[in-house]
Amino acid sequence: MLFKRVKPLDQILATAEKKALHRQLGAFQLTMLGIGAIIGTGIFVLTAAAAQKAGPGMMWSFVIAGAVCAVAALCYSEIASMVPVSGSAYTYTYAVMGELLAWTVGWALILEYAVAASAVSVGWSGYFMGLVKSVTGFELPTALAAGPAWSFKDGLPSVDFTHGMFNLPAVCIALAVTFLLILGTTESARVNAILVLIKVVALTVFIALSLPVIQGQNFEPFAPNGWFGEGKAGLGIVGAAASIFFAYVGFDAVSTAAEETKNPQRNVPIGLIGSLAICTVFYLLVAAGAVGAIGAQPTDIGVQPGSPEFAAKCQQMHEAGKEALVCSNEALAYVMRVIGHPRIGDFIGLAANLALPSVILMMLFGQTRIFFVMARDGLLPEKLADIHPKWKTPHKVTLMTGIFVAIAAALFPVGQLADISNSGTLFAFFMVGIAVLLLRIKDPNRHRPFRTPFVWIVAPLAIAGTVFLYINLPFEAKIVLPIWGAIGLVFYYLYGYRKSYLGRGIVDVHEDDADAPPQPVPPISDDK
Ligand code: ALA
Repeated sequence: MLFKRVKPLDQILATAEKKALHRQLGAFQLTMLGIGAIIGTGIFVLTAAAAQKAGPGMMWSFVIAGAVCAVAALCYSEIASMVPVSGSAYTYTYAVMGELLAWTVGWALILEYAVAASAVSVGWSGYFMGLVKSVTGFELPTALAAGPAWSFKDGLPSVDFTHGMFNLPAVCIALAVTFLLILGTTESARVNAILVLIKVVALTVFIALSLPVIQGQNFEPFAPNGWFGEGKAGLGIVGAAASIFFAYVGFDAVSTAAEETKNPQRNVPIGLIGSLAICTVFYLLVAAGAVGAIGAQPTDIGVQPGSPEFAAKCQQMHEAGKEALVCSNEALAYVMRVIGHPRIGDFIGLAANLALPSVILMMLFGQTRIFFVMARDGLLPEKLADIHPKWKTPHKVTLMTGIFVAIAAALFPVGQLADISNSGTLFAFFMVGIAVLLLRIKDPNRHRPFRTPFVWIVAPLAIAGTVFLYINLPFEAKIVLPIWGAIGLVFYYLYGYRKSYLGRGIVDVHEDDADAPPQPVPPISDDK
C-alpha cells in the first residue's frame, strides 16, 4: 500500500516539457530569490527567542541548523535538477515513493508554507508596532497587539489571554498580502532584488555597528540551558537550533521555481546553495553582534519563550522599567536602541516592515503553488484551482489560504508558529533525503545534472539531522505533525485516493491547458 501509485518520472518530465512557463531566471536571480525567501522573521525576530533558549550559545544553534539545511540543500539540488518541475518535495516524493507518501509531504508542506506565512506576519506585527511606538508614541492595547500564550498542562492544551488576545496588525498584513496575490501581484524579480538589498543593507549596518562594541563578558555564561536544555525539550543550544532552523526555511523556494529557470541543471543548485551560504554568514555575524553587544539577558533559566510564564516574566520586567533582548518583539532594532543608535533602530524596523511582507508573499505563493499541483493531480478538488476570469489568479485557493494564515497569526505567538512550521519542513526535508537515495538505487543510470557529493554520507546526514532537530522541538510543536498528518490521511482516503488522476488512469491537467479535457492513458496498476 505504502509505495503504490508511483508517478513515472518520465511522465513528470514530459509535463515540464509541455508547460508554457517561460524559462527566464538565471543563477543570480535564483540566489536573490532564495535570499528573498530566507531572510525574514527568523533573524529579525526569533534571535530573541533563541537567546532565551540558548544564551550566547545560540551561535552554535545557527551553525547546527545551517549545517542540517546545507546537507538537505545538497539533496534538494540533485533531485531538483533531475526533476525541474513545480511542487518541490511533494513532486519528488510522488515520483519516488508514490502517492500516499507524496500526499503526506504535500500536507506537511501546508505547515511549512502557510504556518510560516503566519509566523512572518506576527514577526512583522512586532516590528510595525515597535516602529509606530518609536516614531509616534502610540501603543495598541495589549489585547490587540499580540495573540494569547499557549502551553500544555497535564497533557491538554491551555491558553492564557492575560498578555494578548488577538494580533490585529498580523491579521491586517496577512490579509493585505492575500489580496495583493489575488489581484495578481506576484513580485517581479526587480522588486525582489530591491527588497533583498534593503534586508542585506539593514543586516550589514547592524553587524557594522554591533561587532565593534562586543564585550567578552556578554558571552558568559555561554550556555545557561546547556546543550539539551537539561532534559527540557526545546531548550538549550540544540533546542534553539530546532527553532532557529526557521531562519533558513525558504531556500527550497528556489527549487519551486525550477520550471521557470534557464539551464535549471546548473542554476538551481547554485541558487539553493549560494543563497544558503550567504545567509549563514550573515546570521552568524548578526548573532555574534546581538549577544556580544548587549548580552543575551535570559529571563529565568529554563522558561520556554511564548509560554504564559515567559509572557508574565517579561511583563513584570517591563513594568519595573527593565527591558531585555529575549523579551523584545523587534530584537535587532532593540539592540541598536540599547547601544545608542535609536534612529538606526528605526531604520532596521522600517527595513523589516518593508521586506517581511515579501517573505509572507513568497510563502503564500508557495502554498498556492503546492495546492495547485496537488489539485492538478486530482488529490484536491479541482474547483480550488479555479482561475479568476479577470485577475487570472487562483483566487479561491489564495483566499482560503490567506484566511487560514490570518487566523493562525491572530492567535499564536511567533515562536510557536515557527516551531510548528519547522515540524512540517523537517518532515519534507527528511523525505527528500530518502527520495534521493531511493532514486540512486531504483534508477542509477538516469542522467543527474547535479550529483550530491558523497551522497551515501550527505543524504543520511540530512535524514538524521532532520530527525534530530524534530526531536528537539518543544512538545507543543512536535505533537502537531502527527495530528496534522492523521487529519491529512482521513482527507486522503475520503477524497484523494478515489479522485487521483493517476489512480484513475488520467493524464494530469496543467495550468496552461486547464481548459482541455483530461486525456485517458492506460491505468497505472495499484500493484506497481
Ligand atoms: N526564513 C524565513 C524567515 O525567517 C521563513 O522569515
